[in-house]
Amino acid sequence: MSEPLGPTEWGQTPGVGPWPGPLPSGDDAAHYDPELLREGDTRNVVDAYRYWTREAIVADIDRRRHALHIAIENFGNDANIGAVVRTANAFAVHTVHIVGRRRWNRRGAMVTDRYQRLRHHDTTAELLAYAAEAGLTVVAVDNVPGATRLEQTELPRDCLMVFGQEGPGITPEAQAGAALTVSIAQFGSTRSINAGVAAGIAMHAWITRHADISAAW
Ligand SMILES: C[S@@+](CC[C@H](N)C(=O)[O-])C[C@H]1O[C@@H](n2cnc3c(N)ncnc32)[C@H](O)[C@@H]1O
Repeated sequence: MSEPLGPTEWGQTPGVGPWPGPLPSGDDAAHYDPELLREGDTRNVVDAYRYWTREAIVADIDRRRHALHIAIENFGNDANIGAVVRTANAFAVHTVHIVGRRRWNRRGAMVTDRYQRLRHHDTTAELLAYAAEAGLTVVAVDNVPGATRLEQTELPRDCLMVFGQEGPGITPEAQAGAALTVSIAQFGSTRSINAGVAAGIAMHAWITRHADISAAW
């Protein structure tokens, strides 16, 4: 592996030791990383991908990515983006779009960003143009006036969900460009929930409706 190791690759996860027995051969042999076969694999990857190269893992997920795209606004510096990327990876989201600043704190992603398609847009207008071109229905996610309940709303299959950031929430521009806005039902005293948590709930709502659960790990 040529890149420096990340937090989930420092040997704290159980992982597996060196490949036991004869090395893999045949058509699938190219999936395997010679160094991981030799040294063992302590990365945070599902067992099916043990010893695989990063490129082989990404290519395999690419075959199965969902029609769900996620966008998060990053005009300040939102610390939730890492968690959003990690959850998007878990759900085989097609692409995570970062809107605004290019820089974001990768710590919460726990290295999952290496396996997730990411795309940057300078402005919300650029993001909306991308969605139109790609035939995606834009769904704004925030508890703002005009929102319908996520729990009672039919989510489009070819979907781009947009999340706002801590503090200002979703931009008026993103909401105006969305076909619909959905809010997550709350019952306590807080005005809102953490953006990373909200993104996880909303992604899972889409998964429940549109994914083939029999194909999950
Ligand atoms: C912490 S919220 C800030 C804005 C929020 N509208 C407020 O009044 O405080 C940051 C982001 O998390 C998401 N979010 C938080 N709570 C939500 C909820 N109940 N329903 C939908 N999205 C929510 C939205 O994407 C929102 O832009």
